Amino acid sequence: MNTQKPHIIDGINELKQISEWKTMTCLTGMRPTGKLHLGHYVGALKNWIEMEKIPNIRNYFLIADYQALGDYLDDPEKIRQSVKDIVIDWLSVGLDPKKSCFIVQSYVPEFAELAFYLNMFATYSEVMRNPTLKDEIAKIEKRESNNGISIGFINYPVSQVADILLPRGEIVPVWEDQIPHIELARKIIDRVNKKTGTDFPLPKALLSDIPRLTGIDGKEKMSKSLWNAIMISDSLPEIRKKVQKMYTDPNKTSVESEWNVENHVVFMYLDIFYEDKEYIRNLKKRYTEGWPDSIGDGELKQILVATLDAFISPIREKRTYYEAHLEIIKEVIDSWATRFRTEAKELLLELRAKMKIADYGA
Ligand code: TRP
Repeated sequence: MNTQKPHIIDGINELKQISEWKTMTCLTGMRPTGKLHLGHYVGALKNWIEMEKIPNIRNYFLIADYQALGDYLDDPEKIRQSVKDIVIDWLSVGLDPKKSCFIVQSYVPEFAELAFYLNMFATYSEVMRNPTLKDEIAKIEKRESNNGISIGFINYPVSQVADILLPRGEIVPVWEDQIPHIELARKIIDRVNKKTGTDFPLPKALLSDIPRLTGIDGKEKMSKSLWNAIMISDSLPEIRKKVQKMYTDPNKTSVESEWNVENHVVFMYLDIFYEDKEYIRNLKKRYTEGWPDSIGDGELKQILVATLDAFISPIREKRTYYEAHLEIIKEVIDSWATRFRTEAKELLLELRAKMKIADYGA
């Protein structure tokens, strides 16, 4: 265990150990702001697929459309489409709604009710100190066309505490930028427990051991809004176009400077997506040693296009199937919402009773 940071679990192997003897609940989520890309796959979905295989873990995967209202209030169509796309992406990469609970936040209005109560336990200063929130506010303020920052947006870290608490989440798989939100969740839930006498679990973050995937620009982490992403739904021509655009080595600025395979963007992707690591070692050797067995960027890129297409094409095929069978998507969302609401109502009844709300006639 990480003794300095008891609220952090370092990687899936530690999770396997601590869940060996007891059932644990994991909750994690995504804002529906577009289709998913390879960065989501490498840094999140791949881990989630592993988590589904751990026997004692109950997984809740949340599509946080309430939270997305903070960014896209004026573009409801984008949120609607993204919710569908994300469920399709999840099913297509192999997440299994028979094993895990897929929740769309707005189908369970209990999230909003719980967030409302939790707001009373959160202090203004601790929310405003949250570094992730501060960064996001600064980014919005820099945009020319911003209509101000809504209270709903400021409130999202607290609403995220409700996301975790409603299924009584104990483990929250996240990227590092979300750690302040987990710390806030622990503070608020602890306060609720102390003030009202509930005994809700204090969540821990499960950090992915894979660093965030760098985009095709070789600079920033992969993100759709930075135009450096390869989507898990991209067609072969789209993959080809993007791989062609890759800087092979952002540090090689002149003909004389040395090739450095460690910073080489094409190799970075091959390292992750090409199964046979020995083959890649050999390619690197040919690339750096040159004549007589040299290999150039053009050929490397062709290998990468084929590699990524081999990875993406089965996902793409499944996507095509689900797009033609949207009734399956609807059924997954509806049936989980119904089941989960029963649990959610129980938690709210318990909390309302402890808070002595709506108990005035007795
Ligand atoms: N804020 C997360 C993101 O932007 C999404 C999210 C919403 C979430 N609710 C959550 C993550 C609860 C973990 C737990 O990616």
